[in-house]
Amino acid sequence: MERLDKLLAATGRWSRREVKQLVRQGQVLVNGVPAASAEEKYDPASAAFTVCGQPLTLRRHTYVLLHKPAGVLTATEDRRQPTVLELLPPELRRIDLAPVGRLDKDTEGLLLLTNDGELTHRLLSPRYHVDKRYLARVDGDLSPADVSAFAAGMTLPDGLVCLPAGLELLPQPRTCIVTLREGKFHQVKRMLAACGAPVLYLKRLSMGPLALPDDLPPGAYRLLTDEEISALYRVCAM
Ligand code: URA
Repeated sequence: MERLDKLLAATGRWSRREVKQLVRQGQVLVNGVPAASAEEKYDPASAAFTVCGQPLTLRRHTYVLLHKPAGVLTATEDRRQPTVLELLPPELRRIDLAPVGRLDKDTEGLLLLTNDGELTHRLLSPRYHVDKRYLARVDGDLSPADVSAFAAGMTLPDGLVCLPAGLELLPQPRTCIVTLREGKFHQVKRMLAACGAPVLYLKRLSMGPLALPDDLPPGAYRLLTDEEISALYRVCAM
């Protein structure tokens, strides 16, 4: 049993204060009946909640899709530099969200944050074959031989052995899409540098079934939809 304001605030959609206000306005129904107070306790496994006319699926975990801008650290806290967590509102900063993998400070694009540790582990493990796709602009000419080297699994000059990966050369000059199933430190940059094409710009476009939405500008976030969460669970065999 948990207080209604705590249950609803844990979804990251409303602060506790907003929940109280919605309850006062009669916008929160529990089992079809307007909730009398935000302090009332309910069992989330058996009660059905509706907020502002929309049925609400209460989940144990929260999943946030952030369009990470360049210049922000993929970390939950840092004494000197801004972090991705600071781009989220207070109610989403209090529920132990952590980034799923790291994007470098100068990398933009799709970053998932969640407090679902098992899903995080599986999304990052090469075992579940969750592809991460990156758009890169490089300072050098890539060739079909580089595409073959990526596909065969490269060994980098520093000894790192990479799993087979995708390299697609785009019509725009010095622009490509890299697809990886793993995420070693600076991996895209190191693989492209090994081909004589150092990265000038890098953006993550997708992670498994999750694509960066066209209408989400850098710095903006949204919660995953139920369909997106189910799709992630499917690819991770959960
Ligand atoms: N590979 C990199 O080199 N940098 C990133 O930010 C992500 C993947």
